[in-house]
Amino acid sequence: MRSPFKPTAGRQPPVLVGRDRDIENFRMAIEEGPGAPERLLFVTGARGIGKTVMLNALSHVVEEQGWITVNETASSGFVSRIVQALQGERLKQISYTLPSASLEVPFAGAQATVGFGQVQVSTGLEPLDIRHAIGGRLDRLDENKQGVLITLDELGVESPMEEVRAFATAIQHLIREERNIAVVFAGIPSMVDDVVNDKVLTFLRRAERFHLRNVRNEDVWSAFEHTISENGKRADYGVLNALTLATHGYPFMIQLVGHQAWRISESAGHDDEITLDDAQQGIEKARDRIGELVNGPAVDGLPPMARAYLMLMAVDDGPSNTTEIAHRMHKIPQYASVYRARLIHEDYIKPAGRGYVEFTMPFMREYLRQYAAFNQLEQNLEDMALSIIESAEEPGRR
Ligand SMILES: Nc1ncnc2c1ncn2[C@@H]1O[C@H](COP(=O)(O)OP(=O)(O)O)[C@@H](O)[C@H]1O
Ligand SMILES: [Mg+2]
Repeated sequence: MRSPFKPTAGRQPPVLVGRDRDIENFRMAIEEGPGAPERLLFVTGARGIGKTVMLNALSHVVEEQGWITVNETASSGFVSRIVQALQGERLKQISYTLPSASLEVPFAGAQATVGFGQVQVSTGLEPLDIRHAIGGRLDRLDENKQGVLITLDELGVESPMEEVRAFATAIQHLIREERNIAVVFAGIPSMVDDVVNDKVLTFLRRAERFHLRNVRNEDVWSAFEHTISENGKRADYGVLNALTLATHGYPFMIQLVGHQAWRISESAGHDDEITLDDAQQGIEKARDRIGELVNGPAVDGLPPMARAYLMLMAVDDGPSNTTEIAHRMHKIPQYASVYRARLIHEDYIKPAGRGYVEFTMPFMREYLRQYAAFNQLEQNLEDMALSIIESAEEPGRR
């Protein structure tokens, strides 16, 4: 039998662990009508904690009530993609000009200008903008019962700010007019803060937040129990304990551990059971995979100095002393603090008491230790970090 677990970004898990209360609060805000605080919402949290999956779950809540949902990613062109989704076949062509650049959108033939907080799109038939697109869609619904939910995923420093301003300003008007809408943004916390601190977007500071965290062991345990038994296998108490402890409550890891243990039980011919041995092998595999899937790409995206900073932290078994890290870098603390600030800002690490920092991403330490062991057998983590620092400083040398 195929594994019921879903170890893929954005895929709905078989059991959505530990998010009932947030979902219930959102459902209530929908029932209460315009003005309820959770109708303008930020979902924040670390990579792999379940933000995208949460957006899907919230969309599901309103779809059950006959709402229209548009799910977009906050990348270039998202405003016109939302307009297009709302207009559907009614709108054939659109283009608009950003202050700095002009972009043609596939359904061209229209003129538009983006001013501060305003995107106007005209098709030659009627002037449209994002506000009118949403308003127009609401007009075609029974607004006492139905509304429009827009979710905007991966909001961050890379998001096109002109478009975000245009979108947010439109939303502000629609909220003020008490239209039946809800808007949910998702992103890494500090990146969301950058957006919210934009001068034009002050009203977003009042938005509600669901800050997603790791989930509780009890909930992970019952999710494993339920998913495994519902799908035709047994797992005894000890197996469920082992699987649960290996996740550290990190949602992505729940799927990976479950998936790998399930697969190993299949190849071992254990059709109706996951044995302790299957579980232990699955956990090993999952630990390798979490590094490749989450930590690897996250670390690769960093400049060499920041990467070296993380490696030097991974030398410690717990929180790292920042003065000591600078010392390991052979740098003065002021120099090291530039990288510390960046890593905190991008949510790789967080302050842990005065003068200390720790990893925010689960399994980062393990990943970095393995990475060093794997890549440079004869070098330890510290030497490897130092050679990265050296080659970053002397680009000619590699
Ligand atoms: N509450 C949860 N319970 C169980 N698994 C979850 C939960 N939230 C997310 N997952 C799983 O974790 C992985 C990452 O979820 P995703 O929503 O893509 O995270 P993010 O968008 O925060 O990076 C997916 O495999 C998903 O199925
Ligand atoms: Mg996501």
